[in-house]
Amino acid sequence: MRYTPIVPGYPHLLHGGDYNPDQWLDRPEIIDADFRLAREAGVNTFSVGIFAWAALEPDEGRFEFGWLDQIMDRMAAAGMKAVLATPSGAKPNWMAAKYPEIRRVSPMGNREHQAGRHNHCFTSPVYRELVTRINTKLAERYQNHPALGIWHLSNEYGGECHCTLCKTAFRAWLKQKYGSLEALNRAWWTAFWAHTYTAWEQIEWIDGSVHGLVLDWKRFVSDQTADFMCCELAPLKRLTPHVPVTTNLMGTYPGVDYRRLAPHLDVISWDNYPPYHARADMAESGAHTAFVHDLNRGLKDGRPFLMMESSPSATNWMPVNKLLRPGLHRLKSLQAVAHGADSVQYFQWRKSRGSTEKFHGAVVDHVGHSDTRVFREVAQVGDDLQRLAGVVGCTTPAEVAMLYDWDIRWSLDEAAGPIKSTGVRPLYEACVLAHYRAFWRQGVSVDVRGSEDDFSSYKLIVAPMLYLLKPGVAERLTAFVRAGGTLVGTLLTGIADQNDLVFEGGWPGPLRPLFGIWAEEIDYLYTDEHNRLVPTPQLGLQQELVQDYEVRHACDLIHAEGAAVMATYGDDFYAGRPCLTRHAFGAGSAWYLASFPEQRFLDRFHAQLARDLGLRHALEAALPEGVTVQRRTDGKTDYLFLLNFTALPQPVALGDVPRADALTGAPMGAECLLAPYGVRVLVGAASPRP
Ligand code: GLA
Ligand code: ZN
Repeated sequence: MRYTPIVPGYPHLLHGGDYNPDQWLDRPEIIDADFRLAREAGVNTFSVGIFAWAALEPDEGRFEFGWLDQIMDRMAAAGMKAVLATPSGAKPNWMAAKYPEIRRVSPMGNREHQAGRHNHCFTSPVYRELVTRINTKLAERYQNHPALGIWHLSNEYGGECHCTLCKTAFRAWLKQKYGSLEALNRAWWTAFWAHTYTAWEQIEWIDGSVHGLVLDWKRFVSDQTADFMCCELAPLKRLTPHVPVTTNLMGTYPGVDYRRLAPHLDVISWDNYPPYHARADMAESGAHTAFVHDLNRGLKDGRPFLMMESSPSATNWMPVNKLLRPGLHRLKSLQAVAHGADSVQYFQWRKSRGSTEKFHGAVVDHVGHSDTRVFREVAQVGDDLQRLAGVVGCTTPAEVAMLYDWDIRWSLDEAAGPIKSTGVRPLYEACVLAHYRAFWRQGVSVDVRGSEDDFSSYKLIVAPMLYLLKPGVAERLTAFVRAGGTLVGTLLTGIADQNDLVFEGGWPGPLRPLFGIWAEEIDYLYTDEHNRLVPTPQLGLQQELVQDYEVRHACDLIHAEGAAVMATYGDDFYAGRPCLTRHAFGAGSAWYLASFPEQRFLDRFHAQLARDLGLRHALEAALPEGVTVQRRTDGKTDYLFLLNFTALPQPVALGDVPRADALTGAPMGAECLLAPYGVRVLVGAASPRP
């Protein structure tokens, strides 16, 4: 199957980015150059108006749309489509001065000064009214404009506000959820340290010692962000029901549970700034970026999404803002398309002369012409995207679901016992990524889903650190395995319920019968320590698995209660006790991996599982380390994206299936050589499997 293009009736991969003509209104020759250069770079979209509120409404109720009319008209004349933004991401100075209540209040109770951006109160009725008015004006003005392609709500919603309005809204949200203070006190375990609430007004301060409160506050912030977003959306949907709406997300940003925003959006988009600077093990960032693409695709059940921002070169906010090495811009861009993006978009089109982002990478540099390395690389990608127009709307089918929940990230960040980080990434994200990477390197497609999503159609579910079980999840996982599915669970699973109240009766709580184990204790290791995973002969059937592997960070000390022991711990007082188990359950099976093994083990373990389950590989060939293959298809034609995240040329065996190079049209032989950091896209008839 194939989805219709994201911009209705515009069957092109979008190529463009954030464009701020409002910074150059006194320089018409610059704007002329922008449109000339856009054609040269193969750009077919600009994202406009994102931070333009001061230009659109210089004083309250006085609107200036003339400049934007001209930009929209020029885009239409050039056959381009606008990603038209609502300007709420930055409030004008006059507004902040006139309506102090729209400025955020810090957790300490201080109202912020007007500065920066992304700092409005999501609850303030005044701000909502001002936003509704400008959004209505925009929609009225451009509803029938031929350049209007898609709405871009605000910018990177995030942060929180602790003003009285927000606290009152939080209490109302809690009343709705719990009905009574008794229920709330029970759910939050407030008898601890004398935190029992006897009046709703006492819920004042987001007390980090009450974990149920912390989780509910984060859920409230997500819901309030969604509520504000819906307020922005209302006039757009009323006046332009035919125009899709998106907002640009920030990957695994922990501040908002994006699954609470996604149902209100037509299209998912996200901003991607991977540190592709040719450092050692670029494959780690390659796999991480792949994971985040798959997470975003999963927010809308596999629908193509937009990569709304990426830098064609350096950023200005990393500890060291290195240039993207030659070729890496193309690798990053086509990687996005490989995972389901129907666009390559940038922050930013042109560098500003002043203020914070004047040195942030851009398509057009201060020199002002196209004869630059970066511009040439962008134009090359523009050319690639035109040749790949057939990919528009293609899907990325997967047989594996990896579960990732914001609530788990939050509870592991707060929980007082577990270690929180591997030193590089938060522990939870690191564990999910390590398992994900094992599939990525085999070219096995993965969907990243939430524990509340429907996962019944997958063959394999990998659920790393399913610490917190929301209602119904244990039952649904049990039904999945009973019906023949395979589940892989890991350490720190089934510890607590949705309020972070620890399960009684032994871990993994309600999943204990499914895994056929009991986790009695958890041992946390120092960062320089490890234990060992020692395969039993049962697991070691595959020759390569017969050796020991290091395990780190934490070890669940488990007892098999019906599960077969497939590996044991090698060291310490729990040497010889199970480290990996497999429980035949109904028509399926449930594996429990009680610690966090080195990547080599996960790679081999999941490779064996993929073989045993007959999972589809994008290419039926072993791939060199650091190379992945991802597939998009419409069911008739397959597009295979071969991506090399190493500094070396890499040969890839293609087998005897007839395919052509989608970028050059040349027929392919039985092998192809990927250049260092190179990409090839192969096209051929879809193979008969789903
Ligand atoms: C974010 C914002 C952009 C810009 C870039 C810089 O993604 O949305 O406005 O600030 O960061 O990398
Ligand atoms: Zn507020």
